Amino acid sequence: MSNRSNNPYTETSRRSLVKGGAVLLGISVFGLASRSGYGQVPRTRMDIATFAQDSTRLANFEGAVKEMQDRSARDPDDPKGWLANANMHRDFCSTPGPSDAAQIHFCWWFIGWHRAYISVTERKIREISGDDSFSYPYWNWSTDRNIPDAYARQGSPLANAVRFPRTNPSGLTDGEVGLRHDDPDLERLGVSALAARIFEAKRSSDISRSFGGIARPNTDNQFGNNAIEGTPHGPVHNFAGGQQGFGDSAVGGDMTDFETAARDPIFFAHHGNLDRLWETWRQNPAHKQSEPTTDAFLKHSFVFKWLDGTPIEVSMSDVLDTTKLGYTYDHLNVFRPNAPIVMAQQAAPDRLAPIATQKLSVPLAAQGADDGSRKYLEITGVANPNASLTVSVYLKPANAPATEAGTEVGTFAVVKSGGKVDWPSDRLVFDVTSAIRRFGGQEITVELVPHRIGGSPDQKYAPLKYEKMEITTQRP
Ligand code: C2O
Repeated sequence: MSNRSNNPYTETSRRSLVKGGAVLLGISVFGLASRSGYGQVPRTRMDIATFAQDSTRLANFEGAVKEMQDRSARDPDDPKGWLANANMHRDFCSTPGPSDAAQIHFCWWFIGWHRAYISVTERKIREISGDDSFSYPYWNWSTDRNIPDAYARQGSPLANAVRFPRTNPSGLTDGEVGLRHDDPDLERLGVSALAARIFEAKRSSDISRSFGGIARPNTDNQFGNNAIEGTPHGPVHNFAGGQQGFGDSAVGGDMTDFETAARDPIFFAHHGNLDRLWETWRQNPAHKQSEPTTDAFLKHSFVFKWLDGTPIEVSMSDVLDTTKLGYTYDHLNVFRPNAPIVMAQQAAPDRLAPIATQKLSVPLAAQGADDGSRKYLEITGVANPNASLTVSVYLKPANAPATEAGTEVGTFAVVKSGGKVDWPSDRLVFDVTSAIRRFGGQEITVELVPHRIGGSPDQKYAPLKYEKMEITTQRP
């Protein structure tokens, strides 16, 4: 099943990638018009909490997913099957390495490729369910810190996936969903990745500060997680999939590995929320204007497969306007309006031993730094941890007792890809502007504390190897 060389679809898509958008294969996304209602009034993509209030609507969705899953159970190659659909993600996301031309993670294709993929998937469900108003409901993890009922109910096709969810009753922590309490500006945004000021990273050191990531290919052949692909994207993958056991015998859930992630129906609900946050981000005209306008970006296209196996070509310019793709969102607020805001911090007694600890001196000048510059904690020369990991970074005065948790300044995750880790970048960057102001002139301790991914209580993570940790400054 994972033998890529026997998969004609992958060969096709690779060929078209190599030649860029110049090659036209099969029908374009617009060719779907007749079968999936393209061009009609856009449907509204709903929060699953709203979507599930209509039991007929939910039953139609479940029925279509079940039909696709049943088809794959009978014949894994059935193009109408759920597995065939999931494998499109495997073919683009679990490649021989971060620099592979077909890889759409770790670069500026990330958010747009996933938009196209969700759109193709929801059109298939629209077709199979016969529910012409269907749009794939998203999971608002800022508000709902556990997998929503509709995607978790035992026996539901929407919960038919390999999952080893963590036993923490409060679910995803604030750090895992990018809610930063240490900085009032970032806290106000709800998801700190929304603070990114530009779409494209022009240099590899800016990848994690950009919303869209770096061009592929690029002269330095450097890749990495953009702001939102880092957190919340990665931590939510690890949370939803989890893992059983630890060390070499660990078994990950579907979502814990990019090769299998899209087999879990929650995948499209997770990416739907990321996609919605892209719209939230681009409500700011300056953000939207920072999106690349070159042919290298706009005319680049990806090939998906429709229910009958025919290829569908979707270019980046096809996906920038969601109404052209046939949907809008019920709202663009980070949190669901009128829902209580959940705050879940990593409880101190739950904390595992740090996988890295380092003392740093903070210059006195940091205290008065009010010139609009931002301070970053940069960790460079980071070696591939080769394990599923979600890690939070804490700062505290160097003389603070070991039991003191400190201030959480960021979270990062390592998501597997085909059983191994495609480590995209040896650099980790965290905005520590607000925290560092308080520590001017002091010595501080930086601690990298892993989260529990799976259920085993005695997990031990290997130390994280890196070359350097330092505080850097970026002028506005
Ligand atoms: Cu292509 Cu969240 O993975």
